[in-house]
Amino acid sequence: MSDTMEKLVSLCKRKGFIFQSSEIYGGLNRCWDYGPLGVELLRNIKESWWRAMTYREDVEGIDASILMHPRTWEASGHVEGFSDPLVEDRKTNERFRLDHLLEEAGVDVTGMGFEEMSAKILELGLKSPKGNELTNPRQFNLMFKTHVGPVEDSASVVYLRPETAQGIFVNFLNVQQAMRQKLPFGIAQIGKAFRNEITTKNFLFRTREFEQMEMQYFVMPGEDEKWFDYWREQRYRWFTEALGIPASRLSWHEHVGAELAHYAKAAFDIQFEFPFGTGEVEGIHNRGQFDLGRHEEYSGKQMKFFNEQTKEKVLPSVVETSIGASRSTMMVLANAFAEEEIKEGDLRTVMRFHPRIAPLKVAILPLVKRDGMPEVARRIEADLRPHLRVFYDEGGAIGRRYRRMDEVGTPFCLTVDSETLTDDTVTIRERDSMAQERVKIADLLGVINGRMDIWKHPES
Ligand code: GAP
Repeated sequence: MSDTMEKLVSLCKRKGFIFQSSEIYGGLNRCWDYGPLGVELLRNIKESWWRAMTYREDVEGIDASILMHPRTWEASGHVEGFSDPLVEDRKTNERFRLDHLLEEAGVDVTGMGFEEMSAKILELGLKSPKGNELTNPRQFNLMFKTHVGPVEDSASVVYLRPETAQGIFVNFLNVQQAMRQKLPFGIAQIGKAFRNEITTKNFLFRTREFEQMEMQYFVMPGEDEKWFDYWREQRYRWFTEALGIPASRLSWHEHVGAELAHYAKAAFDIQFEFPFGTGEVEGIHNRGQFDLGRHEEYSGKQMKFFNEQTKEKVLPSVVETSIGASRSTMMVLANAFAEEEIKEGDLRTVMRFHPRIAPLKVAILPLVKRDGMPEVARRIEADLRPHLRVFYDEGGAIGRRYRRMDEVGTPFCLTVDSETLTDDTVTIRERDSMAQERVKIADLLGVINGRMDIWKHPES
């Protein structure tokens, strides 16, 4: 693990962002729990996405169940094709993704299919990372299987959904009719998805249980390319404006050849520069008529939209935006993490979250625990708490309290001092610049909200 990642993982545990799941039992490989600050950050990211995607008249929200009729996954192509190429170490039985081993050996696997990768590994005579022989490559299906009801036979098999998208497709007509929507319109949802990934690594980046935020936009066939470009632009703006990710850390990746998923006509990823390398955070896919067409075929029910004007039935095309909530959290944490030397020998760690998604917005700090300062500070806390996530701290030297807030990314610290008692002002200290200014207590909410809206990442 890189030095930065080690520091970030350690900070996340120490400060209550992310804990290892079932840690007292030695942990469950690459499963993570969100602690008090982590869950706040995650919820803020999800809320920001939900507002951006559904607070508009052409997108509706739903929350579909994780377990779905197993035919769903036959129709979607997941039973047949949702697999990764796998090889095993013949001695230790450790499993590896073929494409990852090839990449580590310096091979560019872009556009390579299973056959080509299998041939390449033979040609190179690649061994496992422990130097042992590898098994022949095979395809490994990533869906988790379980059973519904008390009998564990083949008739009771169900899958934990590997993507939230299918819950949207099967509800296309329900939503369209209930909400009297016309094309183009979208359906959005946030929810857990599960993939039995062969290798999990890089903290929250690739896990077996994760959350997705997906939106399917149903359009007239022939209009898909226009909407594909529209959603690419919208989604990129959300990264820079809502999450405060500098454009210098983002890039586009176009899927070509065998890289294109079985359902996609065209696909672009928005990538982020993680400390361990460039990685996909969101996929924007032109899925054409694949999914609705397949559900018509497998369910025997028609999935067409009735166009009142032309009196014709239309099978819509679909543009999808698909992003991991967990992977976005990983990106936001990595983007925020910074170490700065303030003056010689004085190092501070600071999490530069966009204030709108920071877990805590304001810390309220009486300079000393006497002279009526805690009482005034408590009154400010009571005034602000209904509007903002605030944190009250009266323990320790003020400098140390500021640093504790920097480390968890609190954008504003309000300090109540002796001047407060005479002129009803406090100092407001900004996390990034560390600049301090006096503000009237009565103006605090407006000032804080104003500053949150104009915030920019220092590298933007
Ligand atoms: N419905 C399309 C779909 O699921 P995907 O590219 O397989 O597309 C979309 O996944 C997003 O879900 C990814 O860009 C990533 O952010 C997130 N994701 C996928 N697999 C993940 C995993 N194992 N752990 C965390 N996030 C994952």
